[in-house]
Amino acid sequence: MGEGVPTVAARETVGLGRPGRNGFFLRNFKLRTKFLLSLLAITTGLTTATLLIVRYSVQSRVRESIRDDLRNSVNTYKSFEQQRDLALTRSASLIANLPNVRALMTTRDEATIQDASYDIQRLSGSDLLVLADRTGIVTAVRSTRTGFQKPMAQELLQKSIAAGEARGFWYGGDHLYEILIQPIDFEGASSKTTIGLLVVGHEIDSAVAKSFGELAASEVAFSWARIIVSSTLAPEQQQELSRQVAALPATAPDAPQEIQLGSERYLVTTVSLSSGTRPGASLSVLRSFDKATLFLTQLNRILLGLGFLAIAVGTLLGFVLSATFTRPLGNLVAGVRALEGGNYSFPLQNSGQDEVAVVTGAFGRMRDSLQKVQLEQRELEARLRQAHKMEAVGRLAGGVAHDFNNLLTIIRGHADMLTDRVTADEGSERNLEQIQKATGRAVSMTRQLLAFSRMQVLQPRILDLNSVVVEMGKMLPRLIGEHIEYSFEPDPELANIKADPSQVEQVLLNLAVNARDAMPNGGKLTVKASNVEMDVSAVARRPSMTAGKYVLLSISDTGHGMDPETKAHIFEPFFTTKEVGKGTGLGLATVYGIVKQSGGFIWVESSPGTGATFEIYFPQARGPAYVMEKVSGSKAVPLGSETVLVVEDESGVRDLACQFLRSGGYTVLEAVDGVDALEISTRYSGTIHLLLSDMVMPRMGGAELTQRIRAARPATKVVLMSGYAEYSEANSGKESPQVPTIQKPFSLTSLAEKVREVLTEKPAEEAGQRR
Ligand SMILES: Nc1ncnc2c1ncn2[C@@H]1O[C@H](COP(=O)(O)OP(=O)(O)OP(=O)(O)O)[C@@H](O)[C@H]1O
Ligand SMILES: [Mg+2]
Repeated sequence: MGEGVPTVAARETVGLGRPGRNGFFLRNFKLRTKFLLSLLAITTGLTTATLLIVRYSVQSRVRESIRDDLRNSVNTYKSFEQQRDLALTRSASLIANLPNVRALMTTRDEATIQDASYDIQRLSGSDLLVLADRTGIVTAVRSTRTGFQKPMAQELLQKSIAAGEARGFWYGGDHLYEILIQPIDFEGASSKTTIGLLVVGHEIDSAVAKSFGELAASEVAFSWARIIVSSTLAPEQQQELSRQVAALPATAPDAPQEIQLGSERYLVTTVSLSSGTRPGASLSVLRSFDKATLFLTQLNRILLGLGFLAIAVGTLLGFVLSATFTRPLGNLVAGVRALEGGNYSFPLQNSGQDEVAVVTGAFGRMRDSLQKVQLEQRELEARLRQAHKMEAVGRLAGGVAHDFNNLLTIIRGHADMLTDRVTADEGSERNLEQIQKATGRAVSMTRQLLAFSRMQVLQPRILDLNSVVVEMGKMLPRLIGEHIEYSFEPDPELANIKADPSQVEQVLLNLAVNARDAMPNGGKLTVKASNVEMDVSAVARRPSMTAGKYVLLSISDTGHGMDPETKAHIFEPFFTTKEVGKGTGLGLATVYGIVKQSGGFIWVESSPGTGATFEIYFPQARGPAYVMEKVSGSKAVPLGSETVLVVEDESGVRDLACQFLRSGGYTVLEAVDGVDALEISTRYSGTIHLLLSDMVMPRMGGAELTQRIRAARPATKVVLMSGYAEYSEANSGKESPQVPTIQKPFSLTSLAEKVREVLTEKPAEEAGQRR
C-alpha cells in the first residue's frame, strides 16, 4: 500500500555511500574517510610547505653569511699579506743597506757572492734570496727548497724587470714565492749609484695556507696560473678545485661561486694576487656549504618528525572528531535504510542542537507523519471495504424484502379476511392465529431488513430527542428487567433533530435489548443526550463525518463488552453471537440503517469486560418539535361507499385490496399499472374519490400517475402503497412524499383506516399542505 513511493524517493535523494556514476573518486568513500583523507592532505601539505619554506630561507641566509665570511676572509688575507709585505720590505732594505753587502756586490765576483749569499739569506730570514748585478744578471741564488735554479731565477728576474715590478710572485720548481726586488745602492758624496739587485722572497707553502686557513676559518688554496700550489684541501679536492675553477665563468672578482668537491658543496671566492694581466698567483677561499647547513639537515629531521607527529595526532583527533559528526549521520542513514525496508521504529538519535540533530528530528517527524498517513489510509480502506460490503448486503436484503412485502401483504390480508369470516370453528381460528403470528414476525423481519437497506419509507419529523427517550423510558425498565439500573441524563438545552420518531424508538429499543443481553447478571444502562459541535479536528477522528452541530445520543452499558473481531461485524445483518433462536442478528443492522437514513452517524466503543457505548450523532435541525400522538386503542374497521381506483401490478395484492374495499362498501375500479389506470380514468364517467396506487410499477409508476390524475381530476385524493423507498444514498433523510402513503405489508384494518382518513380530510387543508 503506497510503500513504493517513499522507497523510490528515498533511494534517489539519499544515495549515501553508493559509487558515483561519473564523479570524483572521493564520492565512493564514506563521509568519515573523506574527512580523514582531507585532514591528512591538509596536514601533509602544510608540513611539507613549512619544511620547504624553512629550508629555503635558512639556505639563503646561510649562503648570505658564507658570502660575508668569504669577503671578510679576503680582507683578512689582504691585511695578512700587508704584514708579510712589510716584513719583506724591512728585511730587504736592511740587507741592501748593509756595508758588507755593498762591498760584496762591488767585488763582482760570482763565487765570492755565491758563498757570502748563504749568510745574507740567513740574516734576512727569507725563503729565497737572489743577488744580481745592476743589469739584472743573477750572481747568486739561495733557496730553502731544492729545484729553484739560477736560470729559473734569471728568467723570472728578467720578466719582473721588464714588467717594472718591484714586488710580485715568482713561480718556479713547483714553488710559489712572494718576492721583493730591492736595489743595492752605493752612495757617493754627490750621487747614488745602483751596484746590484737584491731579491728576497717568502714561499707560499702549505704552512702559509694552513696558518691563513686557520685565521680565516676557511679552506684556502693558492694557485699559480690555475695550478694549485698550496692548500688546506685534501689532494683529490685540490685536483677537483683546479679543474672547476678553470671552468668557472669570469665574474666579479670576489663574487662567490658554488662548486661541488667530491660529495661536498662549497662556496668559493677567488682573488688574483698578482697585479697586471699576466696569469699569476691567485687565492681561493672556500667555505663548505654542506657543513654550514648541517644543522639545517638536523632541523629538517626534527621538523619532519614534528610533521609526522602532527599528522598522526591530527589523524587521531580527526578520527575522534569525525566520529561525533559521522555517528549521528550514520544513525540517520540507518534510519533512512530502515524506512526503505518499511521499519518505522528504528531508534533515531537526535540529541543536541546541531544541524544533523535538526535534520534527524525533521526526518523523525516526517517518518511519524508518513506512518500516520499510512495507518489512516489503511483504516480508511478498511472502512471503505466495510461500507461497500454493507451496501452490497443492503441491496440484497432490500431486494428480498421487497418481494416478501407483496407476498406477506397477500398472506396477511387473506388471513385477516378469513378471520372475519371463520368465527365459529375453534380449530380454524387457532390455525389462522398461528398464520397471523408467523406473518407478523415475517413482517417485522422484512421491516428490519428494509430498515437496514435504508429502503423504508420514513416519516421524518422535527423531534425533541429528550421527550422521545422519556416516553420510551416508561416502558424500558419493564423490557430490560429490574436487575438493570436504567438512567437517562437529558440535556435541558438539547437541540431538535429531524427523524422518524417510531424509527428512533426502534433504535433505542434494539440497543436497550442488546444491553440487557450483555448484562445477564445486572448492571447499568445509561442513556445520555447532549449537544456537540464537531470541528475539523474532531471530525478527523471520525472519518466520513462532516463538521457541524450534532445531537449526541449515547447508550452505555456495563456488560461483557466485545472483542475487536465482534465489533467489526456487529452492524452486518444476521451477525449474532447469540444462540440459535435467541438472536437474528438484525437488531444493529436495523439501527445502522435507520441512523444512516436519518443522516446520522453511529460509532461503538467497547472492549471485553468494559461494557459498550454506542454513540449516535444526529444532525441538529431547526423548527418546532412535533408532538407525538397517543396511539389510540383498537377501533372498528371504518366503512365507506366512495369510488376507489386501485392500481397495482402484483395481482395478488391488487385482488386482495379490491376484495377488501368492495367488502367495506366501496366501488372499486382495477388497473394493472399507471397507463391502464389513466385509460380507465378517461373512460369512467363517474367521480373517482380516491386513487390507491402502488408506487413502483412497469410502464408508469405511482408518482407520475398521481400527477396526471390530479391534472384531470383535481378533486381525487391519493394514497400510495409502498413497499420500500428507492434505494439510494441521497434518499436518506429525505422528506416523506407529499402524498399520504401506506406501507406494505399492511393489514386490512390499517388500509381501511388510511382510506377513510384520507377520504374524510378536508380538501382545503389538503390543498394547503400540498403547497
Ligand atoms: N451492548 C452490547 N454488548 C456486547 N455485545 C453486543 C452489544 N450489542 C450488540 N452486541 C453484539 O453484537 C451482536 C449483534 O447484535 P444485534 O443486535 O445486531 O443482533 P442480536 O442482538 O444478536 O440479535 P437480534 O438483535 O436480532 O435479536 C450481538 O450478537 C452481540 O454479540
Ligand atoms: Mg439485538
